[in-house]
Amino acid sequence: MSTIQENISLKSYNTFGVAVNTSFFAEVFHESGLRDLLSLPIVKEQPLLVLGGGSNLLFTKDFNGLVIKVSIPGITAVVEGNVAMVTAGAGVVWNEFVNYCVGSGFAGVENLSLIPGTVGASPIQNIGAYGVELKDVFDSCTAYEIATAEERVFNFEECRFGYRDSVFKNELKGQYIITTVTFKLSTEAHINTKYGAIQAELLNRNIEHPTISDISQVVADIRVSKLPDPTTIGNAGSFFKNPVIDQLAFEQVLAKFPGIVHYPAPNEKVKLAAGWLIEQCGFKGKVVGHTGTWKNQALVLVNHGDATGAEVYSFSEEIINTVYIKFGVMLEREVNIL
Ligand code: EPU
Repeated sequence: MSTIQENISLKSYNTFGVAVNTSFFAEVFHESGLRDLLSLPIVKEQPLLVLGGGSNLLFTKDFNGLVIKVSIPGITAVVEGNVAMVTAGAGVVWNEFVNYCVGSGFAGVENLSLIPGTVGASPIQNIGAYGVELKDVFDSCTAYEIATAEERVFNFEECRFGYRDSVFKNELKGQYIITTVTFKLSTEAHINTKYGAIQAELLNRNIEHPTISDISQVVADIRVSKLPDPTTIGNAGSFFKNPVIDQLAFEQVLAKFPGIVHYPAPNEKVKLAAGWLIEQCGFKGKVVGHTGTWKNQALVLVNHGDATGAEVYSFSEEIINTVYIKFGVMLEREVNIL
């Protein structure tokens, strides 16, 4: 049974490094510990917050409730033919999972190297980078229903994945705690280099036939060059989603801004690069009080030291308003605001 601690600082549990407290805190290392915890009255009495790596949220105030930190460890693999089914505990650090897969010759997650966070959080927002999304390698996950403490398996369809989206952010928000995730990987590499920056970097290194290990290294290096390391500069990755707009709205904005960075999106829509929109408004690398945008990637908001969540939030409001006035496009936050 996990102990419930009182009045705990969450500064080291959120990658933004915001100093807030929670009234109650419990860490679970095993499914049985989670089941026991969920049977306690406090779970029904207090607002709940389930934390993985704390890499996709911004606390704007103290949390008056119970934080459950999921730290279930363990990775197991079953190989049949050229398919590797790999199951990882929700508490496994995502990049350690990627390193395990790359080191074992299991292909599929190498483009997702160095993404902060834990395995358990990865399906919730369908993490993605460099041409690959979690949904491309997802098989299933197990989760406990908070209300009943019963275990349920979610298959691919049931997760209803979308761009940085899943059923766990919508219909089932706040109802389940993911405990393990199973990935369908391959012992044969299907190298995905469609993302321009990867191709350019491979060319730069004279790598003609990249291995998954090469891809992992290149992706990690690109990330390090563009994105701030959360262990030294607090941040939560992309603060906003790339906006997806319809064709008509796109034609209007394109007429005014012919250089606008865009990509085709499903259902004849167009995805815009939010980082570009923000940079065009003069925000790239801007420092405002203790917060600002990252010098190499305007989509990432950072904590330069003692920023409060409220300070970061109000800066994000300023960005949204300025981008809207200039482009008529409304940015949506990717990071959860608490
Ligand atoms: N751009 C700018 N200025 C900037 C940033 C970007 O002009 O300050 C333009 C560039 O033209 C660039 C384009 O935007 O070509 C796209 O930039 P980048 O390749 O850095 O990717 P992104 O669209 O800004 C997305 C994900 C990242 C992911 C990268 C790489 C979202 C919200 N973000 O960013 O994911 O690492 O692609 O695949 O989809 C995250 O979700 O936390 C995250 C870091």
